[in-house]
Amino acid sequence: MSEERQSAPKRLFIETYGCQMNVYDSERMRDVLAPLGYAPVDRPDDADLVVLNTCHIREKATEKVYSEIGRLRLHKERRAAEGKSTSIVIAGCVAQAEGEEIIRRAPVVDLVVGPQAYHKLPELIARTARKTGERLAADFSAQEKFDALPARAPDGVTAFLSIQEGCDKFCTFCVVPYTRGAEYSRPVADVLAEARALAEQGVREITLLGQNVNAYHGEGGDGFADLLGKLAVIEGVDRLRYMTSHPAEMTDDLIALHGDEPKLMPFLHLPVQSGSDRVLKAMNRKHDGAYFRDIVGRLRDVRPDIAISSDFIVGFPGETEKDFDATMTLVRDVQFALAFSFKYSPRPGTPAAAMMAQVDDAVSAERLHRLQAELFEQQRAFNAAQVGAVLPVLVTGEGRKAGQKHGRSPYLQAVHFDDTRARVGDLVPVRIVSATQNALAGARAEADVLA
Ligand code: 5AD
Ligand code: SF4
Repeated sequence: MSEERQSAPKRLFIETYGCQMNVYDSERMRDVLAPLGYAPVDRPDDADLVVLNTCHIREKATEKVYSEIGRLRLHKERRAAEGKSTSIVIAGCVAQAEGEEIIRRAPVVDLVVGPQAYHKLPELIARTARKTGERLAADFSAQEKFDALPARAPDGVTAFLSIQEGCDKFCTFCVVPYTRGAEYSRPVADVLAEARALAEQGVREITLLGQNVNAYHGEGGDGFADLLGKLAVIEGVDRLRYMTSHPAEMTDDLIALHGDEPKLMPFLHLPVQSGSDRVLKAMNRKHDGAYFRDIVGRLRDVRPDIAISSDFIVGFPGETEKDFDATMTLVRDVQFALAFSFKYSPRPGTPAAAMMAQVDDAVSAERLHRLQAELFEQQRAFNAAQVGAVLPVLVTGEGRKAGQKHGRSPYLQAVHFDDTRARVGDLVPVRIVSATQNALAGARAEADVLA
């Protein structure tokens, strides 16, 4: 390894697909590879090491991996003709689920590494360089991974903190329980130590991450709400968020905390998937539409301004027009600030993929179109409703022009505003003057307006 340290900086390009968990993991991979002399670059051109951090959740995402490997093969050949070597690493959930297949289908790939093995990347890459023939590394323990990969804040002000991985819920459409494995929660002491370290580095806002984050049950504590309470007393941590949560794990203490803990931001991503009880049952979601509405109602009772975000799947096997209508009704009743919606995509090995009555693609596409028209309208309306308000905005960066800043509202909206005084990391009052579907714009208000 010492030879590698002495050589000129090598270029590392990581392409990240999928969820926030992958974004987090890519950051950690950059961290562990830095001591080997790998400096991150923004483009794959001329990279010495290319990592694809892949997503297996829908078929489209998986197919992208194989087409991307095809492009990387050309990149590698071009560089080889110039006498340069290139390593190609496939990481993430496709690596975990289809590792053997990738090795077989794509000889150009040097290493396939599953999400629990990233802390071993330096060693694994060194081994591939020695051409040992070992190309597949998956299935290490989650605990070992966390211990070896401490968090670092990318923008210095906001950070993800991964506290839980895996899922035991087994929704019938979902590959996560197979790719990320059983639920694992980090011990409370480890999470607190990491949060303190982030706060010392200047982080003001922490988003706790997990596939089923509110199912957290780490050793040394009393569940997720208890953990949030312990994090909220850390000095320097001004804002807490979490994702992704499951409706069945929205416990009474967690709902109450949304009313009692000002550091807990009034935004919650709570996937519902469908408004039809029949479909929810076939999805094995463990809740019905009434239960979801009840949770949202109780959250709004304790925190009236809370913004609710969700995920939807249309065209689940057996979904009728009546089922879809129930989804549209739920959407109109609840009113979402933000939502992600997808056509159902059969995933190999999941129960829903084997269900009869798969919905015709054109029918699903048309339903998705109708659903998204409604959801996007709600998103625009939610943003437009902030115009005229003064919001506390956490400054996360500078704009291109002097005096321009950008930041985050409590409702996770991107805010662009004029302010010559504010510095990154400040929490400033901003009067919102205009809104689009994806962002707010405004100017700094007088300091006392927020009181
Ligand atoms: N098809 C379509 N969407 C899916 N999701 C998960 N699995 C599938 C699938 N097989 C969606 C769900 C989930 C989000 C992360 O991705 O809405 O909440
Ligand atoms: Fe997948 Fe359901 Fe687990 Fe979410 S709760 S990760 S959708 S199995």
